[in-house]
Amino acid sequence: MKSNIKSSKLPGAIATCTIAAAFTFLFAFTPAPQANVWTAPATADKEKNPIAADAASIEAGKDVYKKKCYDCHGKKGKGDGPKSSELDKAPQDFTKGDFQKQTDGSLFWKIGEGKKPMPGFKHELSKDQRWQVINYIRTLK
Ligand code: HEC
Repeated sequence: MKSNIKSSKLPGAIATCTIAAAFTFLFAFTPAPQANVWTAPATADKEKNPIAADAASIEAGKDVYKKKCYDCHGKKGKGDGPKSSELDKAPQDFTKGDFQKQTDGSLFWKIGEGKKPMPGFKHELSKDQRWQVINYIRTLK
């Protein structure tokens, strides 16, 4: 009788070990989520900035930036605007290489679409204004 009880526990023990091993495997091989990366679709890269980054367009972009972006993104684009502390997610630092490596097309898409807590500006800003603000952001590195 005694040995019967022991052996009846064996399948349970094997199952427990299998589950534990499965979880270990799952955790070890699941790639860490890239929580901080926001990627525009590849097609966005193809769109070229039709507005030359001259003094006039940079100045126009700065004006848009001060009115619509400054509150969250901050004076120098470091993501430290007066409203940034209220946001669920900190805006990226525009002065960093990783940010500046993105194409104008990709930035244009992101500015148009937005991603919570950032609003999309597709309707609020004209295409020209969005390209101008990109020309301005390029000076923040
Ligand atoms: C309400 C705050 C807020 C305002 C206003 C705002 N943004 Fe943002 N922005 C954010 C946040 C937060 C993120 C990060 C979103 C994420 O990655 O999930 C972001 C991300 C971005 C990104 C993408 C950065 C990257 O590397 O992926 C760009 C470009 C950008 N903002 C441009 C602008 C421009 C230009 C304006 C003004 C026209 C603007 N934003 C207005 C909060 C804001």
